[in-house]
Amino acid sequence: MSRIAVTFTLNGARRRVRVAPMKRLLDVLREDCALTGTKEGCGEGECGACTVLIDGRAANSCLIPAVHADGATLVTVEGLARRGGALSALQQAFVTMGGAQCGICTPGILVSAQELLLRSRGRVPGDAEVREALAGNLCRCTGYQKIVDAVRAAAREAMPARARAARRAPKARATAKARRTAKRARRAR
Ligand code: FES
Ligand code: FES
Repeated sequence: MSRIAVTFTLNGARRRVRVAPMKRLLDVLREDCALTGTKEGCGEGECGACTVLIDGRAANSCLIPAVHADGATLVTVEGLARRGGALSALQQAFVTMGGAQCGICTPGILVSAQELLLRSRGRVPGDAEVREALAGNLCRCTGYQKIVDAVRAAAREAMPARARAARRAPKARATAKARRTAKRARRAR
């Protein structure tokens, strides 16, 4: 069968592969690029296990012919780690907060969460927003709350120190005001 040359940037490195016309991106990543972190669950676009970032958008690689990724910038779960292989803040938050589940669903969940963090840079998405962003990633084994908490913790961590301080400021101001009011009330007695 004739093969087609496809070139893309994969986790920061330029790659060129020759693929059968309808070979799925999922299979090219796993077989031709030896990146087996991206998993196949349903193979039908339902479970999100195969999620990768294509030009910054989360996509089900089981539904996409690799030829459609020609010229694109791809990020797989392997590309989330820091240079040298250390865990990213998002990955670390999953470990610390118990958000890491099985090896089938977790890679896709991490990639979808990464897309959300890129979109919401500079603020912490609310519970509902995280749940919506992860709606295409299914796990039938356990709950999602620890995952949601881990994503929000990573977003908090990613905020610049000044923005974090500004977030705390209204609460701190309210506390100081409450203290002053209580003091005045004590004096008035
Ligand atoms: S394997 Fe692609 S969505 Fe389930
Ligand atoms: S599918 Fe991964 S823990 Fe349920």
